Amino acid sequence: MEQIWQIAYIFAALSIIGSIKWLSSPATARRGVMAGQIGMLFAVVGTLLRHEVVDYEFILISIFIGAAIGAPLAYLMPMTAVPQLTALSHAFGSLAAALVGTAEYYRLTPTGFTMTALVIETVLGYLTFTASIMAFGKLQELVPTRPITYKGQNFVNIALLLFAVSLGLWMIVEPTPSWVFPTFTGLSLLFGVLLIIPIGGGDMPTVIALLNSYAGAACAAMGFALSNRLLIIAGALNAASGFILSVIMCKAMNRSFLNVLFGAFGQVQEGAIAAMSTKPVHSATAEEAAAIMSGARKIIVVPGYGMAVAQAQHKLRELTDALTKRGVEVRFAIHPVAGRMPGHMNVLLAEADIPYDKMHEMEEINPDFAEADVALVIGANDVVNPAARHDTLSPIFGMPILDVDKAHTVMVIKRSMSPGFAGIDNELYYMDRTLMLFGDAKSFVADIVKELPAHS
Ligand code: TAP
Repeated sequence: MEQIWQIAYIFAALSIIGSIKWLSSPATARRGVMAGQIGMLFAVVGTLLRHEVVDYEFILISIFIGAAIGAPLAYLMPMTAVPQLTALSHAFGSLAAALVGTAEYYRLTPTGFTMTALVIETVLGYLTFTASIMAFGKLQELVPTRPITYKGQNFVNIALLLFAVSLGLWMIVEPTPSWVFPTFTGLSLLFGVLLIIPIGGGDMPTVIALLNSYAGAACAAMGFALSNRLLIIAGALNAASGFILSVIMCKAMNRSFLNVLFGAFGQVQEGAIAAMSTKPVHSATAEEAAAIMSGARKIIVVPGYGMAVAQAQHKLRELTDALTKRGVEVRFAIHPVAGRMPGHMNVLLAEADIPYDKMHEMEEINPDFAEADVALVIGANDVVNPAARHDTLSPIFGMPILDVDKAHTVMVIKRSMSPGFAGIDNELYYMDRTLMLFGDAKSFVADIVKELPAHS
């Protein structure tokens, strides 16, 4: 038995490492998910075979309850709600780590190194739990999505964290009175809530990547507390990949961690909407758009958050097929932070069977916009805003953007002149070469598809 669970753990570790590697490319992502599931299966079965497990009754009940919650969540949550689902899974994972830490504390009241690991496990576990629940609430709009700020907020938060850390250090150094651990737990839970309150709902995906990293670190600490190597490996991988992902997201938005965590980003600029509605734009109908597209040779499509909201990817596929049949070259330009989660656009386009070789990353396709007859922007806004290049006062200044304004004709499908995530106006809409196609992305694309046959 001893050898079997150790072999299962080795397979679990290898599968999890493979999973992270394969998840890094859309082409191998499915294999990555499968490897991750197999890894978890090995880990669970291996653990159940350990000699410490003497009674399976509670374990079976727990597996049943977990599956009864997890399976419907996975099936019922729409693709647009994946960030929420991820937040919930982090909440459950980190709560599990924190509860194991709590149980170990009361069972053993350890000292020295084990106590240090246990303190890290519980503080990170409990704060990640409440922070993830808050992130879920903001994304699901169950709690206010706008940043809630007040004077001295950072001071209060840091003081609270320092108090919790001092209690943790006290527990490590010597046996403490019975009130210390519950107070430490309460402070960690409270800190998680306060950490999220000043952050805008749109920044939640970046915060979730960071919480992923905290949950991983809590699990790695749990591995040290329980002397479980698999937990250390899986937790460390989780912590590192979550951290790297949040760094990549911050870089792609040209924002620092501190700005995401404390910048209260995403409030609509005062007067921006009023100013937008008074400036003249050129609008066009689906029929006019179809006429221009059928005469084009090269079209670059730029999807954004609005395409996800409208679930327009399948209609977009129909449009791509119809145009390709007419000899038009259609390609897709993917900005690294288009939408609201990493790989958001790739996943949706792949769901509609748009081939990977038609999807191009920003650096690769940017030089081609000057050659494109049409740049079709569908539900994207901030990622094509030229202000990022030159307006030093713009909140998105310095963010790399897709150079759609260099195309011969720019078409923008959106419902109104409302701003995107950054809450700012977009000068692209007022260019002479830009045609605004006002409407819901899915129905507008469907109308263009209907109009195409009339323009051969
Ligand atoms: P946004 O700038 O958020 O713009 C989305 C646009 O879609 C809006 O202007 C909206 O205009 C339009 N829209 C919404 N529903 C629509 C519908 N049903 N049909 C047609 N249009 C619709 O999106 P983006 O360009 O993809 O930029 C993403 C933003 O999110 C960036 O600022 C990025 O920094 C931020 N962000 C991204 C991530 C990741 S990892 N992707 C994480 C955190 C933050 P109307 O309301 O007028 O229709």
